[in-house]
Amino acid sequence: MTKLGVNIDHVATVRQARRGTQPDLLTGARLALQGGADGITIHLREDRRHIQDADVRAIRTELDAHLNLEMALAPDVMDVAVSVVPDQATLVPERREELTTEGGLDVVAHASGLAEVTRKLIDAGVGCVSMFIEPRPEQIDASVRIGAHAIEIHTGAYANATDSATVAASLAEIRRAADYGAAAGVRVFAGHGLDYDNVGPVAAVEPIEELNIGHAIVSRAIEVGLVQAVAQMKALLKP
Ligand code: PXP
Repeated sequence: MTKLGVNIDHVATVRQARRGTQPDLLTGARLALQGGADGITIHLREDRRHIQDADVRAIRTELDAHLNLEMALAPDVMDVAVSVVPDQATLVPERREELTTEGGLDVVAHASGLAEVTRKLIDAGVGCVSMFIEPRPEQIDASVRIGAHAIEIHTGAYANATDSATVAASLAEIRRAADYGAAAGVRVFAGHGLDYDNVGPVAAVEPIEELNIGHAIVSRAIEVGLVQAVAQMKALLKP
């Protein structure tokens, strides 16, 4: 069965809107696990717009759950990673001005830096280092060369496709990359932009072991939870 890593960054996005304590991130993580998440995924961005250093430490120490830390090559993020030692580290590209991780890592162009970071993470005890890449054979080859255990295929092009020909072409690209990666000996994960409507065909791709999904799940949580939240508040008001 495909594993589901639930990305809870946007629980922290709501909290950071007030720089307060609600919603509580650990509660969010526990509820995700209760719902069947196989692991918790968080992205410690350089600008700390949602997840904070203390969140990474709290999730690691308070929860007995598989932790996947998405991270760019920033030295301060690396310091957190080697001290917290997540079960999995996913190396992602990052630009401060982007709304979300817009493209895959260029492992070919940044091979030496990524190889060094991968080695440091493995030496620190991280059991699975994954490269978030576009579904391209040269990126997969480079990931294998630098010693990554896994690739995470960026599914953004598939998720953003609006016509059926582009959907089919990007899905075929994901399938080819997944087969190529499995044959090359890396574990294959995928994620980005997946939602309740488009997840099925990607989940059906045999070599894909794990999907990381965030925004759609947090959005759905608002949709399915808002009635109850309002009713609970209404019950506290004067009849
Ligand atoms: N995988 C990676 C590597 C990501 O950077 C993200 C976004 O943080 C996701 C998966 C989840 O994407 P989404 O929030 O669109 O489901």
